[in-house]
Amino acid sequence: MKSDKKTVLVTGASSGIGLLVASRLHENGYEVIGTSRNPEKHQGKLPFKLLQMDLDDPQSIASFGKQLFGHIKQLDVLINNAGYLVNGLAEETPIEFGKQQFETNFWGTIRLTNELLPYFREQKHGKIITIGSLLGLVGLPNVSYYAASKHALEGYFKSLRFELSQFNIKVVMVEPMSFKTNIGESATVAEGTMGDYDQFREKIIAYTRKTFDDAPEPTPVINTLLRTVRESNPKFSYPVGKGASIVLLLQHFAYKVFEKSILKSINASK
Ligand SMILES: NC(=O)c1ccc[n+]([C@@H]2O[C@H](COP(=O)([O-])OP(=O)(O)OC[C@H]3O[C@@H](n4cnc5c(N)ncnc54)[C@H](OP(=O)(O)O)[C@@H]3O)[C@@H](O)[C@H]2O)c1
Repeated sequence: MKSDKKTVLVTGASSGIGLLVASRLHENGYEVIGTSRNPEKHQGKLPFKLLQMDLDDPQSIASFGKQLFGHIKQLDVLINNAGYLVNGLAEETPIEFGKQQFETNFWGTIRLTNELLPYFREQKHGKIITIGSLLGLVGLPNVSYYAASKHALEGYFKSLRFELSQFNIKVVMVEPMSFKTNIGESATVAEGTMGDYDQFREKIIAYTRKTFDDAPEPTPVINTLLRTVRESNPKFSYPVGKGASIVLLLQHFAYKVFEKSILKSINASK
């Protein structure tokens, strides 16, 4: 029997945005299932159920898909949140780091979505909310592979939204600016290896550190996610963060002004 209580699956619910949104949804009466690569680490500490799922392992995604409906009777919303960051100047970042960034952020997210789509199609309703990034709409130095993986998600889900509208499945992207979570601490950082970049690298490392240090708590992201979960007819794109709309306007209508202001801030960093 289907219940009136909406069920939401949040990937990467052990930390940061995923943990906060899963907890808020639980407090608001939703049935919540979260995922982690190591759920045993968090056993008994969270108010919602945490299941094992590793985006890098197709087997783990497949077996997660099989066991999920042993734990819940219906699924209304999937929040694709799990992901991580590769930091480093583009030329200095080993291609393997870039491939791994895509394996997790892009391919893992697509695999998991595909695992659940037959269920959503059959029930003829559902919502897929993916956490992209403002870096999926804008490029910045030191995050080339991360930005590329998030741009790829934007393009993929923009196309998918057209294909799924006939099944009453809504597709949404939430694109946060920088917010305080564990993303900086768990980032993979490429070593500086090329002398030509020494000066710029020093500045960009200082700029990145300041961005993390000054980042606000992710409350606006959680509020936006709750809103997109509730809305019956959501838009595709929800950029979140102070100044996000200005950044997007500048990039579309005054790209050189945008570039100059970013380079000015980087050059002023110490
Ligand atoms: N914080 C920001 O400023 C910001 C800005 C824009 C977008 N985002 C996006 O927001 C999402 C959440 O990040 P966060 O900032 O909350 O970072 P976080 O605190 O580091 O949390 C990342 C979550 O993803 C999970 N995860 C990481 N790699 C995984 C993998 N291979 N398979 C399965 N789960 C994996 C982690 O779970 P386990 O380690 O337990 O497996 C953890 O719960 C990410 O997609 C990130 O790109 C963050």
